[in-house]
Order: sequence, then C-alpha cells, then structure tokens
Amino acid sequence: MCYRLGASLLLLLMSLRPNCAASLPGHNQQFRSHALKRLLEVFGMEDAPQSPQRARQPPQYMLDLYNAVADVDGVTKQPDLLVGNTVRSFLDRTRSQQFQFFFNLSSVAKSETILTAQLHLFKLRGRLFQENLYERQQHFCQVSVYQILDSNNTSTAEELRLLSSRILAVHDSTWEVFTITKAVYAWTQDTKSNKGLMVIVQTLAGQQTSNHFVRFATGRDHHSSKQPMLVLFTDEERRGITTSPSLKDMATEIPFLSHRTLQNKASQNRNTRSLHFQACQRHPLYVDFEEIGWSGWIISPRGYNAYHCKGACFFPLGQNMRPTNHATVQSIINALKLANDVASPCCIPDKLFSINLLYFDDDENVVLKQYDDMVAGSCGCH
Ligand SMILES: *[C@@H]1O[C@H](CO)[C@@H](O)[C@H](O)[C@H]1NC(C)=O
Ligand SMILES: *[C@@H]1O[C@H](CO)[C@@H](O)[C@H](O)[C@H]1NC(C)=O
Ligand SMILES: *[C@@H]1O[C@H](CO)[C@@H](O)[C@H](O)[C@H]1NC(C)=O
Repeated sequence: MCYRLGASLLLLLMSLRPNCAASLPGHNQQFRSHALKRLLEVFGMEDAPQSPQRARQPPQYMLDLYNAVADVDGVTKQPDLLVGNTVRSFLDRTRSQQFQFFFNLSSVAKSETILTAQLHLFKLRGRLFQENLYERQQHFCQVSVYQILDSNNTSTAEELRLLSSRILAVHDSTWEVFTITKAVYAWTQDTKSNKGLMVIVQTLAGQQTSNHFVRFATGRDHHSSKQPMLVLFTDEERRGITTSPSLKDMATEIPFLSHRTLQNKASQNRNTRSLHFQACQRHPLYVDFEEIGWSGWIISPRGYNAYHCKGACFFPLGQNMRPTNHATVQSIINALKLANDVASPCCIPDKLFSINLLYFDDDENVVLKQYDDMVAGSCGCH
C-alpha cells in the first residue's frame, strides 16, 4: 500500500464520508469525532469556533479580499496577494465615541508574526451647514491616529503616541486606511497596554476642529458595513502535513491537467499488464463543510475538492505519470522480480495547491487564512 505523502490527510478525509467504501475499521462516532479533531488541527485550530449567535454579515473588505485571493472553491488563484497566511478583522468594541476606538485582539495567537496592522475608518462627508465659518472655508484637514498610552488622561501629548497622519479632503466620503502596526505589536506583547486609539482632526494650520468638522462612521450610529475596523496581516507558523522537501523544491512547472486530459494520456500508455489496473491518476475528493458540520462558522467556501491520487504505477511508467528516476528503477525491479518484497512505486500527489478559508472566530471576528498543500494538483509515481 502506498501511504506516504499527504496520505494521512486523504485517508482522514475519506474516513469522514459516511458512504466511503474504503473507510477504516472502527468507524464509529468516537472515531469520527477523533478524525474531525485531527482535521481541525490541519486547519490550525484546537476547537471549532462557535457559530455566530445571529446571522452576521462579514465586512465587505474581507469578502473582497477572499474573492481576490481565492476562486469559488477556495483554491488560491493569486498566491502573491497575501504576504503572510492570515488576515484578521476586528470591529470596534467601544461603539461610543467617534474619535476613540478599542479593538480586542485576544484572539491573535502567540504563534503569529505581526506583519501589518491597519485602521480602516469610513469618513463621512463634512457638514456644510456647520456654523463655524472658519471651518467652512477649509477644504483639507490633517487626520492623525494616536495610540492611547494612558487612558486616564488623553489631553496631554505624553499620553498619546503618534502612529500615522495624513491630509484628507474634507468633503470626501470614503474608506481611509491608517497604518498602526507599532501599536498593535505592542498590544500583542502586553495585552494590558491596549488602551485603544484616538483620532485627532486639525486644520492644515494645526488648529483644533469641532466634532462636526470631519466625522467618521461609528458602529453605533451607522450602517454595519461602515463600522470602524482593524485589519491585521500576520503569518502563522503551522505544523504542516507531512510533505517531503523534494516536493517543494521541484522547480519544473507542471501544467494543471484536467481529469479528462489525464485520463486520455493514461489510456495512451496502457500496456498488457496495467490493462487490468487503472493507471495512477487524480480523482475527485470533495470535502463538504456542511457534511462535517462546519458550515455555521465557515463563510467561504462551502467545501473544496482536495482530489486524491489512485492507480497503478507498473512498468513501463509513461511520462504522464511523472516518475522520478527512483520510481522508474523501482518499477523495473518490481516487474522483473529482481528482488523480493519490492512493491511498485506509489501513486501520490506531486503538486499541491493551497486553499483559503474565510470564517468567524470565537469572538465573531472575520478571519481569512491560507493553508498550504491542501489540494492535489497532479499525481505521479514516486
Ligand atoms: C477580550 O476578549 C476576550 C475573549 O472574548 C475576553 O475574555 C476579554 O475580557 C476581552 N478584553 C477586554 C479588555 O474587553
Ligand atoms: C489611572 O488611574 C488609575 C485609577 O485611578 C490608577 O490606578 C492608574 O495608575 C492610573 N494610570 C496612570 C498611568 O497614571
Ligand atoms: C491631565 O493632564 C493635564 C496636564 O498634566 C492636567 O492639566 C489635567 O488636569 C489632567 N487631567 C486629569 C483628568 O487628570
């Protein structure tokens, strides 16, 4: 039997399907929950997040990001779009003040490396009917984002640390993004240091402005799609599934072959012996998140095709089976029975793709995560 690369995951996935003929012995409820727990670990989680209590709309930014990175099945279509493998979004938890924000970052794992953190604020149109004549004449403003160091007293400069500052048009109504990486890094090192953020709006001459001059949407007063949001890009170290290093080092680009092309090619290479066997090729293996009870917290995709590799690797191995030299030699030894106990080579994935998951975590924050080596792109004899 060929149980090597990725085999544990594929067996696991197959064992979760109720009607799978190839299921392992002892396939009872306890086994199922054990297998599901192991599958969660593959997705970097100890326990499945709680499904949100009520239907919640994920932030449009996160949906757009997911759709830019992944196709409908979650398979990565733009590998270079994300720098790290995780994007977390947090909604403001103060829900009170327009110019003060607090984001609870307790869900960020210790194993995550902070890459970039951004404050996304929806700027509302300035009020033209305001009484202050001086402010009415201003077309631009300076918006500065500060980390609050001492929440007792935010009126002094020592208690605020400047993170980011920009000049904005007063009458624009759009999302504004500020980089706040330094503060978020400090907060993840020491949770207690998180006193929130403060935004100060000034005229270009540096004068304080009234609260009506420039406004930002709040979670309390405005539509949920305009809520203040913290977006955090991180890279999470994960225990990967067993992949041989040689797989990642393979420099040659292998074209993505459809099921049919593979079948056609395989049929051209049949010989008398393998006529009785189906040659090594890729077969569909759909992982349905609804079927395994995860559809409550996973936003996208509904499931994905992991594919699996199955079939014979008997001599002679055609080029479509992408044999390694070692596999070719092994198939010859096997065919000629030159040594006892030498099996034919294994039919295993030789190219793997990553998938993306968009989901609600336990705090109902929307998270995008990318997982390497989840989809068999092609199969070969190794
Ligand atoms: C942050 O969230 C965690 C988990 O939901 C909670 O236990 C903690 O009290 C929160 N911290 C603050 C400061 O609100
Ligand atoms: C803020 O006030 C609290 C309670 O009044 C006090 O315990 C704390 O030390 C103060 N923080 C700073 C930085 O002065
Ligand atoms: C905050 O600090 C300033 C300057 O040190 C001081 O004038 C003011 O009274 C303080 N406010 C509070 C609430 O402690």
